[in-house]
Amino acid sequence: MTTSPPPKTYRVKSFGCQMNVYDGERMSELLASQGIAPAADGEDADLVVLNTCHIREKAADKVYSDIGRLVKAGDKVGKRPLIAVAGCVAQAEGEEIMARAPAVSMVVGPQAYHRLPEMLEAAVRGESTSDTDMPPIAKFDALPARRRSGPSAFLTVQEGCDKFCTYCVVPYTRGAEISRPYNDLAAEADRLVEAGAREITLLGQNVNAWTGEDPHGRPIGLDGLIRALAERPGLHRIRYTTSHPSDVTDGLIAAHGEIEKLMPFLHLPVQSGSDRVLKAMNRSHTADEYLRLLDRFRAVRPDIALSGDFIVGFPGETEAEFIDTLRLVDAVGYAQAFSFKYSPRPGTPAATMEDQVSPEVMDERLQRLQAALNRDQLAFNRATQGRRCTVLVERHGKKPGQWLGKSPWLQSVWFEGDHAIGDLVEVELLEAGPNSLEGRVLQQPVPA
Ligand code: SAH
Ligand code: SF4
Ligand code: F3S
Repeated sequence: MTTSPPPKTYRVKSFGCQMNVYDGERMSELLASQGIAPAADGEDADLVVLNTCHIREKAADKVYSDIGRLVKAGDKVGKRPLIAVAGCVAQAEGEEIMARAPAVSMVVGPQAYHRLPEMLEAAVRGESTSDTDMPPIAKFDALPARRRSGPSAFLTVQEGCDKFCTYCVVPYTRGAEISRPYNDLAAEADRLVEAGAREITLLGQNVNAWTGEDPHGRPIGLDGLIRALAERPGLHRIRYTTSHPSDVTDGLIAAHGEIEKLMPFLHLPVQSGSDRVLKAMNRSHTADEYLRLLDRFRAVRPDIALSGDFIVGFPGETEAEFIDTLRLVDAVGYAQAFSFKYSPRPGTPAATMEDQVSPEVMDERLQRLQAALNRDQLAFNRATQGRRCTVLVERHGKKPGQWLGKSPWLQSVWFEGDHAIGDLVEVELLEAGPNSLEGRVLQQPVPA
């Protein structure tokens, strides 16, 4: 047992999805509330939290190379940092990490990180601890209230997944679907707005499965939550991600036509355009049902920007089935999308399916799919040239006097002028590139 001095500085490194980013922020706030300061850029921290992702093999392997790098850098200066592994790899491979990486003294799952302070005390005494319990909600009650926020904030409203897509680890790493209570969310949203948020993105693995009760005890879904939050003064924009096609309600579609603060953007993963593959993935809808769902969003909000996730090379995927995916892409015209090569994950049904697709075929299909998605992204950006919209200023650009922000359609827009982070600026969209657009300011900031 080696004791360590209590850490004075910390660094939290988050990988994976936005929910991990949210968890990373909350862990940072928790450590700060214990009197530990964030390490300055370029400075070695006394405590490093690796907030990991297990979704694909590459993401999961990263944690071991990161631990090795931290140990090496620590030994060079004669001071190893305390290392905590958090997130989905911790949940899935906690014991293996402890066995393989003795430099790690804390392993903490995504539902247990409120216990970090006690685990840290043990680590200082030289004891290793692991906590991968999954008590629903307890974490949120135990965390300190929000006090810091950028102009665009994340708010986790729903966690876990009951869908069990046959390729996916999330139901195992994040547990069953749970919804945080309305009152807690309203309070957290208010704190974020007080701390400077103008936009809030509601997060959940299946965010549109959120259910709760409004202050009068009436049952509400995600659309009811969005409606209630839209009433809060100071909050100008609402987004949500990620949705599942099977949990889309009439109310959520209607909300896009009625609530001005709800941004015209929908991330609705489909994974494949082949009905046979969708069935083998346990996605519970056909390609055509997905397309008809999108039509209904477009009917109430014609300018809505669509986004999705795709997997190429799912076991047994034929060339003809892959072409069905390309056809679906052509039919939708996505504003942006994420695409991945299928990665077999231990413990999931697809990992032991026959006819695993070769890496070469996956590479080739991914390239073709990404070429189509990039083409559509540029086409979407070009189609918005000349439009007038508000942009939320999120950060400084590379050059002095240059700013970067997001359009309502989640495009990155850069422009010049005398602004501040958090301003909502009226711009005209000019030249479009594949990943961003230039904007010309029409009007100075909209008052808060
Ligand atoms: N709950 C969301 C997001 C899940 S993870 C949803 O249902 O869409 C984000 C994306 O990672 C998925 O949409 C899927 O495209 C991809 N993904 C998940 N498991 C994967 C695997 N085993 N191999 C490759 N991509 C995967
Ligand atoms: Fe994974 Fe499917 Fe759940 Fe999304 S819906 S988290 S892809 S199991
Ligand atoms: Fe990764 Fe876990 Fe998110 S596996 S994608 S960090 S829920």
